[in-house]
Amino acid sequence: MHQLGEMNETQEDLAQVIRLALAEQTEDVRLFVARLVRKYRTTEPELAEQLDLYLRTKTPRSGAPLRRAGPAPASPAQALPVDDESRLSLLKVFKDSPDREAPLLSRALEENLLQLIEERRQSKRLEASGLTPTRSAIFVGKPGVGKTLTARWLAAKLGVPLYVLDLTAVMSSLLGRSGNNLRAALDFAKRSPCVLLLDEIDAIAKRRSDDTDIGELKRLVTVILQEVDEWPATGLLLAATNHPELIDPALWRRFDLVVEFGMPDISAIRVAIKQFLGPDFGLFGRWADILAFAFNGESFSDIEREIQRFRRAVVLGTASDADLIEEFIKSRALALDRQGRIDLAVLLAKQTRLSQHTISDITGVSRDTIRKYSAEQGASTKKTPGRKSDQ
Ligand SMILES: Nc1ncnc2c1ncn2[C@@H]1O[C@H](COP(=O)(O)OP(=O)(O)O)[C@@H](O)[C@H]1O
Ligand SMILES: [Mg+2]
Repeated sequence: MHQLGEMNETQEDLAQVIRLALAEQTEDVRLFVARLVRKYRTTEPELAEQLDLYLRTKTPRSGAPLRRAGPAPASPAQALPVDDESRLSLLKVFKDSPDREAPLLSRALEENLLQLIEERRQSKRLEASGLTPTRSAIFVGKPGVGKTLTARWLAAKLGVPLYVLDLTAVMSSLLGRSGNNLRAALDFAKRSPCVLLLDEIDAIAKRRSDDTDIGELKRLVTVILQEVDEWPATGLLLAATNHPELIDPALWRRFDLVVEFGMPDISAIRVAIKQFLGPDFGLFGRWADILAFAFNGESFSDIEREIQRFRRAVVLGTASDADLIEEFIKSRALALDRQGRIDLAVLLAKQTRLSQHTISDITGVSRDTIRKYSAEQGASTKKTPGRKSDQ
C-alpha cells in the first residue's frame, strides 16, 4: 500500500502530512506537525520555528492549545469515545504516577520491557540509524499474570495515559457497532501520545467461529491489521490475549514484539507473597514456605486474592493466622496427588510446630508415612551437621 521504505525521512514526513490533510484529519495534522517541530528543533531550527508559528496562528476549530508530548495529560478537548447506543465509554483510562511499583516479572521479560522504554527515551539515536522504536507488542499469558498491570506500568513509565479497549465488550455489541466502536477507539488513541491496549484481542476470533457475518468480521481484523502497521511511533499499541492459538497468523506477524507472561515459578511466588502481605508479613512470614508450596501453579491474581482474604480475616479477628493457614492448606491438599500431599506433609512437619496428628489430618497422609519420608529427607541432608529438621 505504501512504499515508505523507498523514501527518505523528509519525504516520508511530507507524505504523511499530505495523507492526513487529504483525509481532513485536521487534529492529526496538527499533532503530526507538532511532532515535526520537536523533531527538527535542533537540526532545522528555522523550519521548526516556521511550523511552530503556523500551529500557533491557525486557531483550530476545537480551540485546543497544543501541548508538548510528555507527562502532561492528553488534550482535554478530546472527549473519550462512547458507544452510540449505551453512551458507555469504550475506553478505560489509567493515568498512573511514573513511580508506580513495577509488576513482578521474570528477568527476560523485564529486560524486554526495559529495552522498550529505553528505545523511547533514545528514539533520536535510533532514528539516526534509520530505526524506529517498537511501536506494537502483543502480550500472551494466562489470566491474572500481569498483562494489564504491565501495560499500566509501561504507560506510567513512558509518562502517557493508558487506554484499554476491552474487545470482549466490543464484540458483544451488535456487529456493525463493533466496527464503529473499534474505529472510534483507535482513531481517538492515535490522536495523542498514549499506550492503547486492545485487551482480549482473541474475542474477535471467537466471534468469528460462529460464521455469521464473516464479511464484517474479516473487515474488523483488517482494520486492526492496518492499524498495527501504521501505528504512529508517538504511541504504543499493545494487545493482550490468553488464547494465542486463536489469533489470525497475519495479525500475529504484524506485532513488533511478542511478550510471553509465564505463570510464576516458586521463587516468584515467594516474592509475591511477601509483596502482597505488605505490613502483615511479620505475622504470616513464618508460613511463607508453606504458602509458596501451596500456591504452586496459581496466578499472581489468585495468590493476591487469597492473601487479602487472610489479612482481612486477621484484622476483623474472625480467625487466627494459624487457623487460616491450616484451613487453606487443607483445601489445597485436596487438589494434590499423593506424592504432592506427602511432600506437603513433610514440609509442614519440618517447618511448623503442628503436631503430626494435625498434619495427618490436614494432608490425609498417615503419621507413619510422614515419619518415614521425614526420616528419609533428614538422611539425605545429613551432610550438613547440626541442622535439625524441626525448629
Ligand atoms: N506480575 C504481577 N505482579 C504483581 N501483581 C500481579 C502480577 N500479575 C497479576 N497481579 C495482580 O493481579 C491483578 C490482575 O492482574 P492483571 O494484570 O489484570 O492480569 P491479566 O491482565 O494478565 O489477566 C493485578 O491487578 C495485580 O494485583
Ligand atoms: Mg487483563
